[in-house]
Amino acid sequence: MKELGRRCSLCNKKAVVYIPYQRRYYCKDHFVEFLINKVRSTIKRYKLIKNRDKVLVALSGGKDSAVMMDILFKLSKDFGFKLAAVHIDLGIEGFSDESRKVVEQQARRLGANLVVVRLNEILGVGLTELSRKARRPPCSVCGLVKRYLLNLAALVSGASKLALGHNLDDIMAYALKGFLTQDLRYISKLGPSTESIDDLAVGRIRPLYEVYESETRLYAQLLEIPVVKSRCPHFRPNQMEVELKNVINDIEQERPGMKLSFIRRFVRNIQYYPGINEDIIPCKYCGMISSTGECSFCRLTKRIFGEPMGPRAKRYLKDLFDVQNLWT
Ligand code: FES
Ligand code: ZN
Ligand code: ZN
Repeated sequence: MKELGRRCSLCNKKAVVYIPYQRRYYCKDHFVEFLINKVRSTIKRYKLIKNRDKVLVALSGGKDSAVMMDILFKLSKDFGFKLAAVHIDLGIEGFSDESRKVVEQQARRLGANLVVVRLNEILGVGLTELSRKARRPPCSVCGLVKRYLLNLAALVSGASKLALGHNLDDIMAYALKGFLTQDLRYISKLGPSTESIDDLAVGRIRPLYEVYESETRLYAQLLEIPVVKSRCPHFRPNQMEVELKNVINDIEQERPGMKLSFIRRFVRNIQYYPGINEDIIPCKYCGMISSTGECSFCRLTKRIFGEPMGPRAKRYLKDLFDVQNLWT
């Protein structure tokens, strides 16, 4: 931890961080409190969680989702919601084992209930093999599989919200990328929450919407939250996103608070971006959300295995959630 040689602006302890957009130094305890309060006001500002909600947290093993879980856990009593976690084990050699062990530690340190969904147990193959068979880049198959299984897990578990760990830097880079590529429909999906659609989709929330990436990193370090050390072997950084994040951080350094004012104005204007007015037709195989009557998971798996695997995934998840009383 870098020694700043300054005192906390709120007490006399040693400062561990300076927050330029607040012009404040914080000691460890006051920084932790500051970040918890920031998430608390994000939840209130965007009405992300209601009393008695059942919030399912998507834990990946990385710092953002772990910090989100830690903070939501601390806020759950105040807001009166229940919390549980889900992890998708993609069966990627080495990396997935490490990720699973880390999320188990993350859940254990909070005493939170965790369900691990194993792709291998549903399809008989892991992500690497699946993307090879699909002849598609692993990251694109990964995104599709995770979106499908997380939504299905949330539905089957009876969750009323699915919490995703995207931070402010992620959202801002995605939004600028959407603007530069003029993918305006994509931008319309970058709000702090989405609505639930009866029996088809559980509303998603982004509690770290106003939290800087540097803040989640520091919070995880200060509280010694275990996080995955290695990188997914399939990970290929999106060069445009990386460069945009660098530019955003340069501007933030010149104009502290720019990211925050961007995101707040962005939310006010998001209604002007053309949304996706696709039809909503339940998948004829698994009954999940689709726009054509065949969801992308069933379409992909039917092409590869000759059989849509959505119904199998549904049965698997039902068995999995039956044996664990998740919301106690
Ligand atoms: Fe999805 Fe690596 S974690 S491809
Ligand atoms: Zn202090
Ligand atoms: Zn389907």
